[in-house]
Amino acid sequence: MTHFDDEFYRDILEGLAVLDERPFLRDLVATIARHDEPRLGAALNANQMASKRWLIDALAQSAGTRFTDVLVLGGWIGALSALLLRDPRFAIGRIVSVDIDPRCETLARALNATHAAAGRFEARTADMRELDYAAERFALVVNTSCEHVVDFDRWYARVPGGQLVVLQTNDYVACAEHVNCVPSLAAFGAQAPMREVLYEGARPMRRYTRFMRIGRK
Ligand SMILES: C[S@@+](CC[C@H](N)C(=O)[O-])C[C@H]1O[C@@H](n2cnc3c(N)ncnc32)[C@H](O)[C@@H]1O
Repeated sequence: MTHFDDEFYRDILEGLAVLDERPFLRDLVATIARHDEPRLGAALNANQMASKRWLIDALAQSAGTRFTDVLVLGGWIGALSALLLRDPRFAIGRIVSVDIDPRCETLARALNATHAAAGRFEARTADMRELDYAAERFALVVNTSCEHVVDFDRWYARVPGGQLVVLQTNDYVACAEHVNCVPSLAAFGAQAPMREVLYEGARPMRRYTRFMRIGRK
């Protein structure tokens, strides 16, 4: 078996970034080159990308593609924001990505550097359970980290009725950080009730099932 060092992969990625003039790959390669950070690999692996792609396709089909502003909660390193902003189907004015972990802010800003410079992306450090969603309204609120949220009910109670939301969670209880898993799509529906459901589905992954609900709270 051959073992390539980091430089080998970096050279190839930098080569691809020269060919592709869109910001996504350029910002991704610059982020990898500057930040020796294992969370980049965890956040950009095939499972995570499949979940985000599922979200983006389902959102486009069920709730549309034009949003003045989007709030991504538990946004981690900002991968979903980067994928939404690169997708030619979408017309999104601005995305704000919020995470409680202060280390995420720098990574999310690097991964979305071109959009941040254009005023279309902002990374903030905050607890989603403390935000005032009525004072600062967003056309769309996304939370793909529901399984990570301690005291989930306290967060969901703060989201105004009628707010368009996209929620993902899973049943992967073996992960210690997953404090709020649900066993089924029905249980997810009971945990996060919506006035109008535009889409809901379950997607089997290799080790767990991911659940998604899109609708108006
Ligand atoms: C591992 S990541 C994301 C996993 C998820 N499957 C995804 O890709 O969206 C979960 C993130 O939620 C964040 N998080 C957990 N509780 C939070 C809270 N109360 N407010 C904001 N972010 C939170 C964590 O800091 C972490 O970066």
